[in-house]
Amino acid sequence: MERSAAHGGKRSLPRLLFLAALSATPWLLIVYLHLSVLNGAPASSPQPSLVDAVASDGGKDAQRFLLEQEERLRKLPPSRDATTAAAAAAEDVCEGRYVYIHDLPSRFNVDILRNCREWYRWINMCVYLSNGGLGEPVDNADGAFADEGWYATDHFGLDLIFHSRMKQYECLTDDSSRAAAVFVPFYAGFDVVQHLWGSNASVKDAASLELVNWLTGRPEWRTMGGRDHFVLSGRTAWDHQRQTDSDSEWGNKLLRLPAVQNMTVLFVEKTPWTEHDFAVPYPTYFHPAKDAEIFQWQQRMRGMKREWLFTFAGGTRPGDPNSIRHHLVRQCGASSLCKLIQCRKGERKCLIPSTFMRVFQGTRFCLQPTGDTYTRRSAFDAILAGCVPVFFHPASAYTQYKWHLPDEHETYSVFIAEEDIRSGNVSIEETLRRIPPHVAEKMTETVINLIPRLVYADPRSKLETVKDAVDLTVDAVIDRVKKLRKEMHGVAAS
Ligand SMILES: *[C@@H]1O[C@H](CO)[C@@H](O)[C@H](O)[C@H]1NC(C)=O
Ligand SMILES: *[C@@H]1O[C@H](CO)[C@@H](O)[C@H](O)[C@H]1NC(C)=O
Ligand SMILES: *[C@@H]1O[C@H](CO)[C@@H](O)[C@H](O)[C@H]1NC(C)=O
Repeated sequence: MERSAAHGGKRSLPRLLFLAALSATPWLLIVYLHLSVLNGAPASSPQPSLVDAVASDGGKDAQRFLLEQEERLRKLPPSRDATTAAAAAAEDVCEGRYVYIHDLPSRFNVDILRNCREWYRWINMCVYLSNGGLGEPVDNADGAFADEGWYATDHFGLDLIFHSRMKQYECLTDDSSRAAAVFVPFYAGFDVVQHLWGSNASVKDAASLELVNWLTGRPEWRTMGGRDHFVLSGRTAWDHQRQTDSDSEWGNKLLRLPAVQNMTVLFVEKTPWTEHDFAVPYPTYFHPAKDAEIFQWQQRMRGMKREWLFTFAGGTRPGDPNSIRHHLVRQCGASSLCKLIQCRKGERKCLIPSTFMRVFQGTRFCLQPTGDTYTRRSAFDAILAGCVPVFFHPASAYTQYKWHLPDEHETYSVFIAEEDIRSGNVSIEETLRRIPPHVAEKMTETVINLIPRLVYADPRSKLETVKDAVDLTVDAVIDRVKKLRKEMHGVAAS
């Protein structure tokens, strides 16, 4: 494993700067454009029904499917509230699934948000905190997205989205003794980002140490020594696993604190060698408020004409000897079946989500190499667009998102080993062309069926029946805690 400081260390600085720029400034412009379009437009037309929506895309099969889908939707319970009321009456729906959310002092979450103007020296992140952490509605002038549910979300913005979603969890309890798991709403990612550049180690660690001090003094901690607790950072584990107390080493040491090692820690990318941290999907731009928004989007992606065999959207890493990205750019550029969106620093088109989302929607396979770390938000953007991801490293997805992606990797993705690209004797075009069209279409369908499990629903409302990324995460955490509880009791009994 190429475990190195390079993954979180100094070498990522220019990339992080670039990413930060990439993920922020343009939205202001886009939001401005969006607003000016809205101002000039007539009042919004009534929501078209599912069938209307697809009729314009054509396709009898699709229409029949949608009629069935609408029929299914009609049969659903009218709203979650009615279901919850019934559930409360039935009582046992929540048994064994209750979650207790710690009421942390505001310095661990709300106060950090207030500081959003200062997180980075070069941009103001406050705009990303609007709409429950989703950000501003995305510009949809060219129709690459649906009218509802799409936001210019920061890829490292999960701290707030996840917390907001947890507050909507259907089985919350005020009684920690009934809880199957305890959520700690510390904004660990937003905390560390304030200190990643130029702060000394004690400043970087201060909030984490205070948190541990607070938590371990609470009665809830004593029940299982914190093993029923879970906490999230919307960044990668590389920002939280500093090995020494050297001021120049990257990140804080949250993940290495003994108390935190008792907890379940969630990141958008875990380390390959620790067992108490788990990866959850990056947030994408899609945050549906209703089941129907998801079904409509899936149906739209099923109907897409995929004219490109493959696509690479991204930049090269000239300073990184391990990077295979220049090979991908070269191979893609040389193939008439590949659409290349090459992102040089600060390139405007690459700052606009619809640029690549539109291309992904018209492509069969999307290349997803590693960047500064193993994972990329782009893999989730691709899946959302119904584009089958091509991975080059197992840690880009397979060893990461075990709760959210199927074990059968070959059903939803293609794997080409980095070494084969580097040695120059594997043609990506040849590899992908060898996949028979009916198999490729089946993979596309599998990818589209994954969409519900990977999205973070709009935390201001509730999906009716669909389980989103948070529902799956909470189920998995509760399962893990159950096992740990059994182990502890087993040890106590013997
Ligand atoms: C770390 O930086 C803070 C703020 O600049 C300062 O107050 C503190 O003394 C420094 N600590 C060490 C150990 O250098
Ligand atoms: C971690 O959990 C174990 C029990 O599994 C407990 O003995 C230990 O004290 C806990 N550590 C902390 C820091 O609370
Ligand atoms: C690819 O190249 C490497 C190194 O040049 C070589 O060892 C390997 O056998 C080649 N693989 C194939 C399938 O040709």
